[in-house]
Amino acid sequence: MADIDGNQSAKNYGLDQPAMSRSFHIKGMDHVDWGMKDRLSRIFRPESGKTVMLAFDHGYIMGATAGLERLDLTIEPLVPYADALMATRGAMRTCIQPIHNKPLILRASAGSTVLNDDMSNEVVGVDIDDAVRINASCLAIQVFVGANGECSSLHNLVRTIDAGARLGIPTLGVTAVGKEMERTNRYFMLATRVLAELGAHIVKTYYCDDFEKIAAACPVPIVVAGGKKIPEFDALTLTYNAIQSGAAGVDMGRNVFQSESPIAMLKAINAVVHSGLTPNQAFDLYETEKHTLV
Ligand code: R5P
Repeated sequence: MADIDGNQSAKNYGLDQPAMSRSFHIKGMDHVDWGMKDRLSRIFRPESGKTVMLAFDHGYIMGATAGLERLDLTIEPLVPYADALMATRGAMRTCIQPIHNKPLILRASAGSTVLNDDMSNEVVGVDIDDAVRINASCLAIQVFVGANGECSSLHNLVRTIDAGARLGIPTLGVTAVGKEMERTNRYFMLATRVLAELGAHIVKTYYCDDFEKIAAACPVPIVVAGGKKIPEFDALTLTYNAIQSGAAGVDMGRNVFQSESPIAMLKAINAVVHSGLTPNQAFDLYETEKHTLV
């Protein structure tokens, strides 16, 4: 190992080639550390730069949501078809086997439920040590821009970004829409940019008019939530429009696990996100898969 003499002489310095400086496949992440890039690359596929996150963290505010009554029965079979999972540590540890090797976006804010009219008062609900223990690839914090809890939720976000940055774990900022909160494009334009400026590595928001301007003005990847269950064709259209307008993927829950055929739906969403299928093509795929899987 430590030989001084008798080694081959080094000669391939590639003097005619500049050092590799490839731009990274994830928006705004060229200058983060290697470990953080590695975690982000587990979430956003290098070949497409996009992701299909399966969100099933709803129970942390809504209790046993329709489709999530038995996570072991309804969610575990879907895991292989998603790029990443967004969930609470309680759900993961109790109901999802640690065998899938899927990146976890760990729900790390807590402190309110749908029983409260003002849901904007949250705290950081996970210790960074436990996030490492559960092997989180990202931490998710809900932010209530414009609500009573605006300041404290922004504080939760920056504290988490700092804690994650020490260990190379990125943070996803969720633009929350409380019961009475504004849901306009003007609101989402402001909220997404605020979260990115404060250091969020990924921003989750809702699709709306002028989405291409929101995506353009947000210097980090945006993933789009699905919202309440709508017909499958409409959810695929929402996905298509979001991707065409600059979203880097979806973080979708109810429109997957409340679908008549969740696996077929995940496959169809995947095809829109990663292969650019149109809503009609994706809906055909959904129908075919639905009948194949029955
Ligand atoms: C809600 O509590 C979570 O933030 C969900 O992860 C998010 O709303 C995405 O789920 P859905 O597509 O059902 O809106």
